[in-house]
Amino acid sequence: MIKFLDIYKQDKKLHLSILNNFKKIFKKGDFILGDDVTNFESNFSKFCNSKFSIGCANGTDALTIALKSLNLKKNSEVIIPAMTYCSTAFSVINANLKPVLVDTEFMKSTISIQHLKKKINNKTKVIMPVHLYGSVMNINEIKKIIRGKDIFIIDDCAQAHGAKDDSGNKVGSLADISTFSFYPGKNLGAYGDAGVITTNFKKFYTIIKKLRNLGSEVKFKHDLIGMNSRLDSLQAIILNHKLKQLSKFNSKRRKIASEYDNKIVNKKIEKLRYSKFSVYHQYVLVVKRRNEFIKHLKKAKIQYGFHYPFAIHQLDAFKEYFKSEKFPNSEMLAKYGISIPIDPNLSKNEINYIISKLNSF
Ligand SMILES: Cc1ncc(COP(=O)(O)O)c(C=O)c1O
Repeated sequence: MIKFLDIYKQDKKLHLSILNNFKKIFKKGDFILGDDVTNFESNFSKFCNSKFSIGCANGTDALTIALKSLNLKKNSEVIIPAMTYCSTAFSVINANLKPVLVDTEFMKSTISIQHLKKKINNKTKVIMPVHLYGSVMNINEIKKIIRGKDIFIIDDCAQAHGAKDDSGNKVGSLADISTFSFYPGKNLGAYGDAGVITTNFKKFYTIIKKLRNLGSEVKFKHDLIGMNSRLDSLQAIILNHKLKQLSKFNSKRRKIASEYDNKIVNKKIEKLRYSKFSVYHQYVLVVKRRNEFIKHLKKAKIQYGFHYPFAIHQLDAFKEYFKSEKFPNSEMLAKYGISIPIDPNLSKNEINYIISKLNSF
């Protein structure tokens, strides 16, 4: 069986040093927002060239807190892509704002600039692109179209740790505020829930630091209506260790993707277009005969995934929000998209096996 993802194998070499650091915490007892959290925040800032990093409880909260820090009027409009994980949309609603959907570009996982332009109006206060599957949305292009307007950019980097834009600038330093998830299966994953927010602006940093900790920076002094959304020391230890192997694993993912790009040759299988310095969180194919393809993968004992089988407007939770709207490119990804293994530890034999089985479909 070729596993979709093998976290145990990825981290095996780190287990002992992680456990040793855990023992120190057991003694020290700084379980919440301890020194390891501060260390991780500083390491992550260095990693993505952002001035500030603020750890929090998960990637969904990271988005919600980022939006809340802008202090916008209720129901201000936030533009998000129609194909993303549900959290991007939930965060907007949970921050008392209004989500507005825009289709993705044809055969790409990122928001369409052409469609985006049409949805910008006086109520638009935030554009929230998602670097879906690790493929980077061109933030500079968005900056160009909102120049002179009072609109913020928050990019959802939950699937793009270590990715760069086409000019070689790291994700996490491109927008006004950036958010990451460390859900275990991510390119950088914790052993539970965790997230981080990055920014180059001190004014956002100051507010976000309070918002993640019940509106407080000094004990018993609560200045804002905040959330309890802190990164804990045990997860920070794990992340500090795993951050060291992230670049190596990202380049392995890139190598596997380039093998797939070059060697999967089958008219029944279409490949998405990824950005130049994508980190391939997922390698997604478009297969019109998807049910047959699934049977083929099952027979070949190759695990697969869907990212995601429903676009945002197709989810029951959003039934009342986007009633008659259509987003054909996102719907196409939901209907025909299928993710194949791109675990950085796949062996040459396993990669060749996957390629040969895909070519024989
Ligand atoms: C694009 C995207 N945004 C937001 C999230 C939410 O992150 P979390 O699961 O840590 O809340 C995820 C991951 O789950 C994601 O993939």
